[in-house]
Amino acid sequence: MKRAQLKIGVLVSGGGSNLQAIIDAIRKKKLPAEIMLVISNKANAGALERARKFNIPTKVLDPKSYPDREAYTSEVTDTLKNNGVELVCLAGFMCILTPYFAQSFPLRALNIHPALLPAFGGAGMYGHHVHEAVIKSGAKYSGCTVHFVDEGCDSGPIVLQQVVKVLDHDTADSLAKRILRYEHDIYPQAIKYFALGKLIIEGKRVKIKK
Ligand code: GAR
Repeated sequence: MKRAQLKIGVLVSGGGSNLQAIIDAIRKKKLPAEIMLVISNKANAGALERARKFNIPTKVLDPKSYPDREAYTSEVTDTLKNNGVELVCLAGFMCILTPYFAQSFPLRALNIHPALLPAFGGAGMYGHHVHEAVIKSGAKYSGCTVHFVDEGCDSGPIVLQQVVKVLDHDTADSLAKRILRYEHDIYPQAIKYFALGKLIIEGKRVKIKK
C-alpha cells in the first residue's frame, strides 16, 4: 500500500537552500512528503524561484501590508490551514510570528536554526548575526538545530542537532557556509522522522523511535 504523503508548507525569506534540500529529498523519494505551498515575506526571495521551478505553489505575504504582527500572523496561519498543510517548516524565515501561529500548529511546526540551541538563539539571533556572535564569543563549536516551534523564540523541543567545529580563521561567512551544508542533512531528516511518526515528545525532550 502506498504511504500517505505528509502535506507540508514552507516559510522562507531568503535564498532557499534549505527549501531546496527538502525538495531534493522529496524528489529522491527519501522523504514521504508533498509541499503544498511556499510562503515568503519577501517578493524577491530566491527561494520563490526554486519553488516555481518545481511547480510548487508560492505566495508572497508582506508584513508591511498588514496593520500589525497579529494580523500578519493570522493571514500566514490561515493561508497554511486553507492549503491543507499538516506540518509547517520554517526554512530561513526571518519574521517573528505571534503565539497564535504556534497555538494553531502545536508540535506541527519545525524550524532550522544555524547554531546549537539553546545557545545563540532568541530575538535578534538570525542569519549572520548568529555566526558573528558565535565567533565573537570564542566558542569552539557551533552547529545547527531543528526544533519544534513553540510560543517563544527558538525555544521549542529540539529534534536534531549537528555539531560543527569553529576554526581559528573562520569568518561569519565561512562558518555560515560550513554549517549550512549540515542544515541540508538534518532538516529533511527531521521532517522524515516526523512524517514517519517517529518523534515522541516528552516535555522538552524529543525521543526518536528506532
Ligand atoms: C539558514 O542558515 C537558517 O538556519 C537561517 O537562515 C539561513 C537560511 O538559508 N535561519 C535563521 O537564522 C532563523 N533564525 P536558506 O534560505 O539558504 O535556507
